[in-house]
Amino acid sequence: MGDSLLRQWLKTPAMVGAILPSSRHLARAMARHAGASNALVELGAGTGTITRELVRQHPGVPLILFEQNSTLASRLHSHFPHAEIIAECFHQRADRLAQLPERAVFVSSLPFRSLPADIAIPTISALQQLLSGHPQRRLIQFTYQPRAPFRAPAGLAWRRYVTVWRNAPPAGIWELAMPDRQSRDDLAA
Ligand SMILES: C[S@@+](CC[C@H](N)C(=O)[O-])C[C@H]1O[C@@H](n2cnc3c(N)ncnc32)[C@H](O)[C@@H]1O
Repeated sequence: MGDSLLRQWLKTPAMVGAILPSSRHLARAMARHAGASNALVELGAGTGTITRELVRQHPGVPLILFEQNSTLASRLHSHFPHAEIIAECFHQRADRLAQLPERAVFVSSLPFRSLPADIAIPTISALQQLLSGHPQRRLIQFTYQPRAPFRAPAGLAWRRYVTVWRNAPPAGIWELAMPDRQSRDDLAA
């Protein structure tokens, strides 16, 4: 599988953003931080490493996978026949999420730091629309950098969770959500 992600990276490095799949340690932590939800939307599912953990830790929760690379998307089809798989860029088909339940969680491996601006900007704007006004929705995103994955859009705020050292390279897990939701969680903790 690593070989396969490497092969796809060689074709479009800025879009794929990694030569190795996420480690099982990162996958477990991402799935754990997704928490309870009525629907899971994975962005950039790639080789399906995180997808497998989402299915294992959240059985029965409807799963929608976005993967722009057609080779990787067709492999996801065969490994996750119960998931809805959208083999296009997220921002181009975010309209497919119009009926998403209130308590939906987005889990993303999108390589925001290398994505071309004409993809990163509309992707962030689509996420802003899907999260704003929905205090129970969240985006769980990892990044290899010590700072937030991208500047928080108006009305949303980042919270840093953990660093997973057993990943190449080590990755920080972050959550993007409405600040109200985050302060309620802090009070409940
Ligand atoms: C870091 S890689 C995959 C990581 C994944 N967790 C794994 O272990 O294979 C990021 C993936 O995002 C996909 N991708 C990049 N931009 C995308 C977009 N705008 N919409 C959907 N998928 C995208 C790439 O094709 C690539 O498979």
